[in-house]
Amino acid sequence: MARIAVVAGDGIGTEVVAQARKVIDAVLPGVTATEYELGASLYNRTGEILPESVQSELAEHDAILLGAIGDPSVPPGVLERGLLLKLRFVFDQYVNLRPARLWPGTSSPLAHVKAGEIDFVVVREGTEGLYAGAGGSLHRDTPAEVATEESLNTRHGVERVIRDAFARAQRRERRKVTLVHKTNVLAHAGSLWARTFEAVRAEFPDVETEYQHVDAMAMFLVTQPQRYDVVVTDNLFGDILTDIAAAVTGGIGLAASGSINPERRFPSTFEPVHGSAPDIAGKGIADPVAAVLSASLLLDHLGHPDESRRVAEAVAVELASRAPGAAVRTEEVGDRLAAHASA
Ligand code: IPM
Ligand code: MN
Repeated sequence: MARIAVVAGDGIGTEVVAQARKVIDAVLPGVTATEYELGASLYNRTGEILPESVQSELAEHDAILLGAIGDPSVPPGVLERGLLLKLRFVFDQYVNLRPARLWPGTSSPLAHVKAGEIDFVVVREGTEGLYAGAGGSLHRDTPAEVATEESLNTRHGVERVIRDAFARAQRRERRKVTLVHKTNVLAHAGSLWARTFEAVRAEFPDVETEYQHVDAMAMFLVTQPQRYDVVVTDNLFGDILTDIAAAVTGGIGLAASGSINPERRFPSTFEPVHGSAPDIAGKGIADPVAAVLSASLLLDHLGHPDESRRVAEAVAVELASRAPGAAVRTEEVGDRLAAHASA
């Protein structure tokens, strides 16, 4: 039976993760869940971000369910780099999966797009690119200061994430992969991505392909988001594009994500894209849908596609039945989702 590590984290993280657990328990009774205190609370109490003992214990789990990390009391960047990005690197979570779906019953800020019309997933590379930390600076705090930030791209890293995107496309109805990069300017990395894409594409003759520059995709995400099915791109492009994707599908309040090691050699992390929202923490009004959708991704990753689908269907029912602008009670939404998903 699956072993899940639960990192509720800060702010509304605790509240939404409790609902995600409720839903997982409802569809997959017998899962063991172990809680770990990580995030601003641990950091402020002990100065630690990811103690080594915790890291080795996390490694013994199949997946990590994470709520939200961060608090205004912690300097920006500390927990992001020390915890979220560190987990991606040490657990080789090279597929950063971010579905973008305009659910029936929800509305997009894009007036020309109707519910149900947007349904794509971004496969964002998660362990390389500009996030690899290569670079340096010279002549700090002088007028001659120079800083470089290098994007690391390996054939191995690019090929495996592209192959994952094709495999995902093959399991979807439209079977289309869009490669997004900036090959007209980024001659080295762009060429590597384009040539690798060409090579992998030959293995998937039933998948339609296209290439788009990242700036063009930023525009099409607003004018024609319906056109995408599976998008594969590098780490930073994917970071930016998925925020736009979340915005056009009803906001980050509904957006789920998985930082995945597809081979399951290491645990994958599943978390809502939203933050810890300290302003509404403790009030019981945070929407747990993004956390529950992240749990649905977790179930799929652990080999429970039917349970995953039932959770997503419960979310569809929940969102379709909501009155526009109606207030949300975290616990009640969690109860309804658990009941629907297990029925
Ligand atoms: C995300 C976040 C992270 C990222 C930050 C918090 C390091 O924006 O998960 O998209 O840039 O990847
Ligand atoms: Mn981001």
